[in-house]
Amino acid sequence: MPQDVYVREDRERGLFQVARTAFVSDDVLAQEQQRIFDRCWLYIGHESEIAKPGDFVNRILAGRNLILARNQAGAVNAFYNTCTHRGALVCREAKGNTKAFVCMYHGWVFSNDGALMDQPGKEAYCARLNEGGALNLARVERLESYQGFYFINFDRNAISLKNYLGNAKEFIDLVVDQAETGMEIIGGTQSYAIDANWKLLTENSIDGYHAAMTHATYMDYLANSGALARVGMAGGAHALDNGHAVIEYSSPWGRPIAQWVPTWGEAAKQDVADIKARLAARAGAEKAERMSSLNRNLLIFPNLVINDVMAITVRTFYPLSPDRMTVNAWALGPREENADMRQRRLFNFLEFLGPGGFATPDDVEALEMCQRGYRNLRAVAWNDISKGMVREKPGTNDELQMRAFWRHWNRLMTPAPMEAAAE
Ligand code: FES
Ligand SMILES: [Fe+2]
Repeated sequence: MPQDVYVREDRERGLFQVARTAFVSDDVLAQEQQRIFDRCWLYIGHESEIAKPGDFVNRILAGRNLILARNQAGAVNAFYNTCTHRGALVCREAKGNTKAFVCMYHGWVFSNDGALMDQPGKEAYCARLNEGGALNLARVERLESYQGFYFINFDRNAISLKNYLGNAKEFIDLVVDQAETGMEIIGGTQSYAIDANWKLLTENSIDGYHAAMTHATYMDYLANSGALARVGMAGGAHALDNGHAVIEYSSPWGRPIAQWVPTWGEAAKQDVADIKARLAARAGAEKAERMSSLNRNLLIFPNLVINDVMAITVRTFYPLSPDRMTVNAWALGPREENADMRQRRLFNFLEFLGPGGFATPDDVEALEMCQRGYRNLRAVAWNDISKGMVREKPGTNDELQMRAFWRHWNRLMTPAPMEAAAE
């Protein structure tokens, strides 16, 4: 497969283009499963969701049912959610706390560290049945964490999570280190589906260009509710290691850490100032200013987005087919946050990025319109992602960050010559 089938680049003409087949083809989706989802580190859950022994969450990643569970000794494991007897899911709850997973079909019992403990009619089985543990729950090949975020990898030979994250770690730190006593996932999950290719949401999550047009209603609302003029530091767009990317920018909206806006009332002013002063004492004045006055939309390749805007949203999404994806989103916040700030944060989580908020329905509409537009790909076969190609330092409204994603995506989707020969 030649290098330029999906992505073509002409630096002299400042052109960067992506083939629309990448958004509609079943074959591309099958290749993505093998070359991207089976090889990249995928976010599975946050340590706060499984804080106590016996806590578990049940998640679907790349079409596979998995369990992330803390055992009685406090160790965290990731298992394939399938009974080693005849296959049924052994865990059907989204989350909970248990010492054992009991299969609903014939009743095999697995401890929360995966060991087969018991089965009805045990006397009919040889005592050596589970010698070597082959009938224990199967472990996901790799499980590692960074700053409380747990990731799995289906590839036993993958590079370490730390190396994979590379210089994106700095931006994860800028989010997590806002907390004094650690971050936690707050409450439940926002789950919804979009009739569009999953990569459209990857692009959209780090796309500054669309905000003024697509989110005009929200910008009007902010202006009418006495929002701040754009203030603070300038930010920028960064292409990071391994296809990760980020935009950092100042904003007219409030941030619980720590930018006050008039709609929060005079009483909150001192609160915000105190939070910021404590942040400066911990992180130094310059870093504290960056953490508090800049928002950041961070993409961890291929499909984890951390939107540190007003609230902090942690979001993943997976394809069901080339033209449909499922989305899950969680709110992240500092454990020590007081009730008022927490309320503002959660209101923002709903108000802006929630599925019924100011931003997401408009974004969903835009992505679904793109997907429908691709039905005309016979006539128009390429998307343009050239904005800012001719600039020495592309800005947040340019498309450098999307090009970072696509270049890495293309590298993974294009087999090396040796590999191609073997196929
Ligand atoms: S399939 Fe689980 S006990 Fe039979
Ligand atoms: Fe948007």
